[in-house]
Amino acid sequence: MRRVIIAGNWKMNKTVSDAVSLVKELKELVKDVKDIEVVVCPPFIALNNIAEEIKGSNVKLGAQNAYFEKEGAFTGEVSCSMLKDVDVDYVIIGHSERRHVLGETDDVINKKIKAALDAKLKPIFCVGELLEEREANKTNEVIEKQIKEGLKDVKDNVVIAYEPVWAIGTGKTATPEQAEEVHLFIRDLLKKIYDDRVAEETSILYGGSVKPSNIQGLMDKANIDGALVGGASLKAKDFSDIVKW
Ligand code: PGA
Repeated sequence: MRRVIIAGNWKMNKTVSDAVSLVKELKELVKDVKDIEVVVCPPFIALNNIAEEIKGSNVKLGAQNAYFEKEGAFTGEVSCSMLKDVDVDYVIIGHSERRHVLGETDDVINKKIKAALDAKLKPIFCVGELLEEREANKTNEVIEKQIKEGLKDVKDNVVIAYEPVWAIGTGKTATPEQAEEVHLFIRDLLKKIYDDRVAEETSILYGGSVKPSNIQGLMDKANIDGALVGGASLKAKDFSDIVKW
């Protein structure tokens, strides 16, 4: 059985005290939730405080990025072992904002996934096409390249998040059918790269303008195993409504 995961990507939002208040409210709202992995991914500087706040609760901690080197002269970067040290479980790798705003390549993403797995973090590996790529019927080609290069020589299971770039922060969600089509394509690809068992066990999340009003339709689809939520994860009630869809 693959795990259902609802992860909140807070991006570059919230001061430390605002982040702590948000998770305080959230952990109460989701305390009776079972069988769903609830994950929050605050900015780096809030990780330590959030880790303290969620102790004993069913909320898990994720980071939004990590560097692939173990330590050294890499100004401004944070290593996977540093994240592990503050009780981080998950790490988002290859988010479209890192690919397209900060210039991360498939090769760098591949190194980060390997470094995260080595440090026993669970990568949430993001893939997704631009609007012009979808319009040129290149969605599958783009996704296949991102997955093959991102998972090159990767042996362990990772969580995958399909996030069409045109749906992120735009209010424009992919329809459940559009999302399911790509999720199925990804699962078939995993069968080819790995085997049936790995493909069946991999949680594939959808991301891009997920909100309480559209989560049900997405979760009804056979190959959608959860969501990576940006904007709607910044309000405890909205995020908990998504978790309890
Ligand atoms: P959004 O962001 O929900 O605000 O569209 C999703 C994401 O970037 O992970």
